[in-house]
Amino acid sequence: MKPEWKEWAHEAKTEFPGANSALLPLLHRIQQSEGWLSPETLADVADLLGLSVQYVESVATFYSLYFKQPVGKKVVHVCVGLSCMLAGSDELMHNLEQRLKISQGQTTPDGAYTLLEAECLAACDLAPVAQVNLRFRGPIQDAGELLTEEVSS
Ligand code: FES
Repeated sequence: MKPEWKEWAHEAKTEFPGANSALLPLLHRIQQSEGWLSPETLADVADLLGLSVQYVESVATFYSLYFKQPVGKKVVHVCVGLSCMLAGSDELMHNLEQRLKISQGQTTPDGAYTLLEAECLAACDLAPVAQVNLRFRGPIQDAGELLTEEVSS
């Protein structure tokens, strides 16, 4: 456990009423710092907030934007919801898989990219939609535009 996590847990518990409501912001802050949430990290968070490890794991698993495995510097989420599927998200995903030489759910060997599916990202009017490090892009005309853009992590 990193020393600053205790301070962050205290801040979250002060700002939000109860350990349950402090959980999401604390997980978010630690993931921003560490890049992902390891099983050991989830156990530490449970200890910091006085929650069960099983509960913390279930919350972290429910929300797809919490990463339970290391991810690349750029995380590309391709929406596979209905509107995006009708607008060509399957082709977009296939094109990205070919360009990156990985399959959906994987990270490139150099750690540059992780390619993930996402359910409806609530931007259907921009279909097909993707996110690069949570920044919306759409409508995507060419998969390459997602891979050349400079995006802060
Ligand atoms: S289906 Fe893709 S944003 Fe809604």
